[in-house]
This record gives sequence, C-alpha cells and structure tokens, in this order.
Amino acid sequence: MFASPLVDRLLDTAPMVAPSLLACDFARVEQEIRRLEEAGAGILHLDVMDGHFVPNISFGIPVVEAIRRVTDLPLDVHLMISNPAQYLKRFREAGADLLTIHIETAPRPEALIEEIHALGAAAGLCLNPPTPVDAVEPYVDQCQLVLVMSVMPGFGGQGFQSAVLSKVRRLRQLAGDRLLVSIDGGVNLETVGDCAAAGARLLVAGSALFSQPDYGRFIAKMTQMAQNNQAA
Ligand code: DX5
Ligand code: ZN
Repeated sequence: MFASPLVDRLLDTAPMVAPSLLACDFARVEQEIRRLEEAGAGILHLDVMDGHFVPNISFGIPVVEAIRRVTDLPLDVHLMISNPAQYLKRFREAGADLLTIHIETAPRPEALIEEIHALGAAAGLCLNPPTPVDAVEPYVDQCQLVLVMSVMPGFGGQGFQSAVLSKVRRLRQLAGDRLLVSIDGGVNLETVGDCAAAGARLLVAGSALFSQPDYGRFIAKMTQMAQNNQAA
C-alpha cells in the first residue's frame, strides 16, 4: 500500500477546488500562481495534452518544471497523452506530486501505478465520459485518485455532462473514504453542488475560475457550496 501524507492531507481538507491552469494567462504564469496562493488554493491541476490522445496541445515537461520552481503547492498532473509509460519518470522529475493517466491509454495499468509509486508520487486513473467505472474498478484499491471527466478532454470551457455524476457516486461506494474522487470539466458555481453531493472531493475548475476578477472570492464560494452539499 502506498502511503502518502499529501493524499491524507487532501482527504482531510476536501472538498477542495483544484485550479486548472489551462485557462490562466500563460504570459504571467508566476503572477497567476501567486494570486492563486493568495486566494487560498491548496493544489494546482496541470493539463498535459499531446495532440494525439486529445485533439489539442497544451504544455509539457519544461512548463511543469518551471511551475514547480515558483510554487510549493502540490502539482496534480493530468496526462492526456497516448503513451504515459514513456514519460512518467520525467514528469515526476519535473515536480509532479500526483500523476494521473487515462485508463483508455492503459487498460491494464497495474505496472504504471507501481511505477508512479516507485517514483514517489501518488497515482490517479482518469475516465472519459463514455468509459464505465468497470474499466477502473479492479485498480481502484491500488490508486489514490480517480479523475472523472465531465467533458471530453482536450479543451476548457465546455458544458458539464451531468450523466457522469452516477460514476462519481459509484466510485465513492466502491472505495469509500480512502479515494480522492476528482471531477474535471465544466465545474462552476452551478454544477459544483451536484459534484460534491455525488461525492467528488477535488473540483477541477479552469474557465469558471480564471474568468473571475477575484480568485479568492470564487474559490471561497465554490468551497462553501461544495461543503454545504457534500456527501456523507
Ligand atoms: C479538459 C481539462 C480540464 C479543463 C477544465 O481537457 O482536463 O482540466 O481545463 O476546464 P473548464 O473548467 O474550463 O471546463
Ligand atoms: Zn484536467
């Protein structure tokens, strides 16, 4: 069993907003991170896209490494890449604390989960909206996080697919209190309550957050709504 003080701390503090930097101003990434720290963010969600697994390209290892140099916040790295096995070590060396791979790219992920743990990071599995919970069920006990996509990955600013909430509920039933169930895509003030009620603990927010003038106010409001609706 992989012991992670970071994951224990995140489980204790949940529900928590995880800002997705995809929607930030990359010309001022250090300032954006400073504003998020001042706003009370407890984690940063980094969306890595390869233009192959998803039809978009975002950023890669050097950018994760640069972000690591300017913050001590935990880095939750979401790998939307076709060949995660080839890059796990380099993303870990760049500073990832949690490494999440898509089950669609690694249908039998045991060895990759073990490798992530051996590298000293917490391991996550991610499911696209059409992928059933059955695909990750055999591995849920081995990983620390399951990321439920509530949009097809590749782009920020899409509409929330509420049909995925049943997957969040099912994962919480399967894994109970030990798993960080995270939800990603279209999470905003309208949808966050339902996410928390279903049992999501990390609430990834990109465009809804970065379109706000006051990140602190938004994070506080989102957290409050999640706490008010949170599953037992
Ligand atoms: C989508 C990414 C998300 C995205 C969320 O492919 O995984 O993290 O940035 O963005 P919003 O919150 O705008 O849906
Ligand atoms: Zn993401």
